[in-house]
Amino acid sequence: MTELLLGQVLSFAGDPFTLGPDAARHESHGAVVIKDGKIAATGPADAMRAAYPQARVTDYGRALISAGFIDAHAHFPQTAMIASWGKRLIDWLNSYTFPEESRFGEPAYAQEVARRYFDLTLAYGTTSTCSFCTIHPESVDAYFTAAALHGQRVWGGKTCMDRNAPDFLRDTAQTGYDQSKALLAKWHGAGRASYAITPRFSPTSTPDQLAAMGALWAENPDCLMQTHLSEQTDEVAWVKSLFPTARDYLDTYESFGLLGKGGLYGHAIYLEPREKDRLREVDASLIHCPTSNTFIGSGLFDMDGLKSAGHRIGLATDTGGGSSFSMLRTMAAAYEVAQLRGRALHPAELWWLATQGSARALHADHLIGNIAPGMEADLTILDLSSTPAIEQATRRAETLWQALFPTIMLGDDRAIRATWIAGKPVK
Ligand code: GUN
Ligand code: ZN
Repeated sequence: MTELLLGQVLSFAGDPFTLGPDAARHESHGAVVIKDGKIAATGPADAMRAAYPQARVTDYGRALISAGFIDAHAHFPQTAMIASWGKRLIDWLNSYTFPEESRFGEPAYAQEVARRYFDLTLAYGTTSTCSFCTIHPESVDAYFTAAALHGQRVWGGKTCMDRNAPDFLRDTAQTGYDQSKALLAKWHGAGRASYAITPRFSPTSTPDQLAAMGALWAENPDCLMQTHLSEQTDEVAWVKSLFPTARDYLDTYESFGLLGKGGLYGHAIYLEPREKDRLREVDASLIHCPTSNTFIGSGLFDMDGLKSAGHRIGLATDTGGGSSFSMLRTMAAAYEVAQLRGRALHPAELWWLATQGSARALHADHLIGNIAPGMEADLTILDLSSTPAIEQATRRAETLWQALFPTIMLGDDRAIRATWIAGKPVK
């Protein structure tokens, strides 16, 4: 069955950070044609209807058809403890995160939360996620199994920790390696699943474990590797005391084979010049998590400086250090954080970050994150007047960006008319 979706269509012909807002393509009476889970064509509604007369038509009226949102860094096991009050990173991990993550050795609990996590994120228009799991292989199985219910393109991995965590949340260098390797063999390339090698961050791994993770990555260079880097000043100081001979935080990864293209470094706020240079040289991905950075009180990511220097940057919620499941809310926070650093991000830049930017960070921009022939048909359809507050703010809009920005700043799950995964509506 060929599907033909009608609405306003937003896509990108390039990166608006370098090309400006004209990098966006807007078809105000547009159509997207879907065949076998992929986008077959896109263009003006009339032309597409004429070219595909047999297609089943879904008319979304004035709603906006966009590539689905891609959350490039999340912790699905932190779903139930999102919005926990009053702590900064290290205390927050010990008080809220580790007790909750300890429950994921229980398969029924892990499955229930994984299903709830995807229900929530799909309701917010997120079609792909890259998530940390817990140390328990059961949590990885639960995550990929739940994602497969709708055939979502996802990344995930067992979060390895062999020190500075409670006994019940510690593996060893060897079991971390063995279990990660077995899970990688089971899930990497299973349908649309990809395994990401996942040392939590250098404070919770011994040098032996970091070396084992580096060895596993070297044996599986087509896998991504995800971790955290320079999120809070206390954390940076802690890393310095744990690794006294390291040149800087990044060196605690670099010297164990954990720096490279395909490396995803969450937060990356307090970077030394050498770290920026090395991350840029190897073309690593920096993942900006703005609601987390304000919620846990971490600091202000330098989007303008890092993007201008040519870094590969994705956007993410960091659920549940992040205070939202929503990539709309995350775009709003990215806007606010950049404003505090003196740069107003254009709505085209924000939207690109939440779609193609994250896809590029995950090295999947040839598959997802845009509307173009051949791309996988993961789509989010947005009502741009979803609440009275948004409707009145857009009433006099003359451009797409004026019509879209109030939804970025004020929108929530009510703005998501539908979410399509691999050519099928799931919300
Ligand atoms: N650093 C190490 N683990 C975590 C985590 O779970 N969340 C955040 N925000 N930072 C971390
Ligand atoms: Zn994180």
